[in-house]
Amino acid sequence: MRNASLRDLVFRFDPEVPIERAWMPPGAWYTDPDLYALERRAVFGASWQAVARVEQLGVPGAYLSGCLTGMPWVIVRADNGKLAAYHNVCRHKGREVVRGHGVLGELVCGYHAWSYSLDGRLRSAPRVGGIQDFDREEMSLTPILVETWGRWVFINIDLAAEPLAVALSGLAQRMSGRDWLGYRFLQSTEWVIQSNWKAVVDNYLDGGYHIPHMHPTLAAQLDMADYRTEVFGSYSIQSAAASRAADERIAYSATARIGDGAMYAWLYPNFMVNLYGNCIDTNTVIPLGHDRCKVVYDFYFRESAGEAGELEAQDSIAQSAVTQREDIEICESIQRGNSSPSFDRGRYAPNVEQGEHHFHRLLAAQLRRALG
Ligand code: FES
Ligand SMILES: [Fe+2]
Repeated sequence: MRNASLRDLVFRFDPEVPIERAWMPPGAWYTDPDLYALERRAVFGASWQAVARVEQLGVPGAYLSGCLTGMPWVIVRADNGKLAAYHNVCRHKGREVVRGHGVLGELVCGYHAWSYSLDGRLRSAPRVGGIQDFDREEMSLTPILVETWGRWVFINIDLAAEPLAVALSGLAQRMSGRDWLGYRFLQSTEWVIQSNWKAVVDNYLDGGYHIPHMHPTLAAQLDMADYRTEVFGSYSIQSAAASRAADERIAYSATARIGDGAMYAWLYPNFMVNLYGNCIDTNTVIPLGHDRCKVVYDFYFRESAGEAGELEAQDSIAQSAVTQREDIEICESIQRGNSSPSFDRGRYAPNVEQGEHHFHRLLAAQLRRALG
């Protein structure tokens, strides 16, 4: 019965209806714990997730672990120099094998010391003398997919997923062929938001619709008449030139931050790469439940810009905090509104909110597939 209602809920958004006639997904997509449980498996368990920077796994033996909507993972740089990723779950009785990050010759579970080589194979299982029908080969760590794009490491739990390079085909060229390794990582900041993760993604993808109303400082820096959205297979790009009036209207530092303009790339479902001036920041939206999420901001600046670039990045961090506080207020309010019995679902502004519609279509397709 419960599944029947979940199915109805998923199928209430029809990805085939064109944006001019489409209704948005119902508010219950943002508030229903069953729909969130489905997303954990069907979306976060089957999409490319940016979980690390390449340099965090620089040397053989380097490892990094984390947990993706309840699924612990570990990435290692194997002896052959290649990256490998596994479910970070010991085959003895399910403890997470390793915690945190570091450099190791093998992965040793702290509970009873079962150990695995960096290629995932069970190397030793102390005190199992007398055990029968025990095939060591079968007791390897369970692999997951790992690939890199730009300077980021992505994992995908779905072993049948299309390669990352196919999913992101053409993205690098569309982002002005950036030399990603020429940027230095500066710092990371986390924000916890009392809203469903999709409220944050929707807000990011609304084609700049809310910028003049909610972000006056940012609006003054961008030429909003030039703001545009282009959608591709599993990513979209929003961009806008810098406001020509910027020099007169705002302080120098704010102008410097944007440079010639801003480019915001979104990679389905929850990773964003933002370019402006000498800086990049990335945003990862991580669900913490059906009504709570966390956004991780990582900031970088172009190394060749030297001290000036670092100052710009510091300025960018400060300005991004202002914008982020404004966005948090929106997302938390959206969550309350979507929970109201008065609200069912909304409509799109067809010439503005194409990015959001594209996101909902990709998501709906993935949820429908999972339900069969
Ligand atoms: S759970 Fe890992 S060794 Fe026992
Ligand atoms: Fe915003």
